[in-house]
Amino acid sequence: MKFIPYGRQDISREDIEAVVAVLKSDYLTQGPAVESFEKAVCLEAGAGHAIACSNGTAALHLACMAAGLHAGEVAVTSAITFVASANCARYVGADVRFADIDPETLTMSPLSCRRLLAKAQSEGRPVKVVVTVDFAGHPCDMQAFARLKQEFGFIWIQDACHSIGATWEDSEGIRWKVGEWPAPDMTVFSFHPVKHITTGEGGMILTHDDELAGRLRMLRTHGITREPAEFSNSAEAFAADGTANPWYYEMQQLGFNYRLTDLQAALGESQLHRLAAGIVRRREIVAAYQARFSGHPHINFPGVAEGVWHAYHLAVAMIDFTAAGKSRAAVMKDLRQAGIGTQVHYIPVPLMPYYQADAACSEIPQALAYYGKALSLPCFPQLIDNDIERICSVLEVALA
Ligand SMILES: Cc1ncc(COP(=O)(O)O)c(C=O)c1O
Repeated sequence: MKFIPYGRQDISREDIEAVVAVLKSDYLTQGPAVESFEKAVCLEAGAGHAIACSNGTAALHLACMAAGLHAGEVAVTSAITFVASANCARYVGADVRFADIDPETLTMSPLSCRRLLAKAQSEGRPVKVVVTVDFAGHPCDMQAFARLKQEFGFIWIQDACHSIGATWEDSEGIRWKVGEWPAPDMTVFSFHPVKHITTGEGGMILTHDDELAGRLRMLRTHGITREPAEFSNSAEAFAADGTANPWYYEMQQLGFNYRLTDLQAALGESQLHRLAAGIVRRREIVAAYQARFSGHPHINFPGVAEGVWHAYHLAVAMIDFTAAGKSRAAVMKDLRQAGIGTQVHYIPVPLMPYYQADAACSEIPQALAYYGKALSLPCFPQLIDNDIERICSVLEVALA
């Protein structure tokens, strides 16, 4: 019996050939493939700049640094996300507050976020950074957060680790790709193997802001610049004739080695060609689950806001386990015994022991209600119709 995981990568012959070509080339890292991948993602997403990083978490960390988030300042993110959306703010010593989710789309609730922003402001500690999360591939309420940004003046980091390839429509009927609309200061993708496209480990930051892009590039490589125009130590940097000394580089701030390799970038660029087709297949899979369980007494699915083209990184089902009279653990065990992997996305981050102090400032009833029902069903482009039928039948029996 074939085991069906909840998510998995798709590697084609072309992907392998692209990586082998780099292996045979002069550069394994810091060669031309990274820039080429950055350009390709930039074009695909309609962004101004793209900065490739070693993973999505590193990208979020750099975004917080470039935002100027410092120790003792405050950041807000969604209660329902992977821990990295909050950890990035802790890496720079900031405190994290958790906003509740919208019960329909499961993305961060602008209303709940607004409450936190207003409270922080009234306490004299205005929120410096908001990390919105495009949960499961559904872009957050972009225009609502743009209005909040205007009102409260925070730096907006859009955690789009689930939503590359998604689109949404504004109130004037203009369609935007994730990464294209300039209101978020930075938009972050992840290329982990369960994501839409993979580089093994990998991530990318998109921005329309030239200055932020420069800062991010420098922070990604130890805080070093090799641009003569940016050198500050002229006596060391330049020869008597005014030309830059050939060995010279300058470390101007404390950065990291968060670079992506050329091997990874070649894989990512090759995968990018199949992004759109992969999303179409993911949407078919979710539609099949929804059709099969429409009218089921205990299974529901999240809603989709009008105008959103959902990228479905995850196929989240919401199951009333109490009403079904069976625990989630028992259902997951039945599915696993039948060769089907499922997962819970996510345990609310403020429930993590590490975050319990920050959780005291968070009211998250919708996140807790959702968490009680969450179960991610398998969703990846190579799933065939027979797999979907098998998953549905086993789930039906498990809940009967
Ligand atoms: C919402 C979200 N943010 C951030 C990350 C971190 O990305 P990475 O695993 O590439 O570090 C993930 C990855 O799972 C994620 O799902």
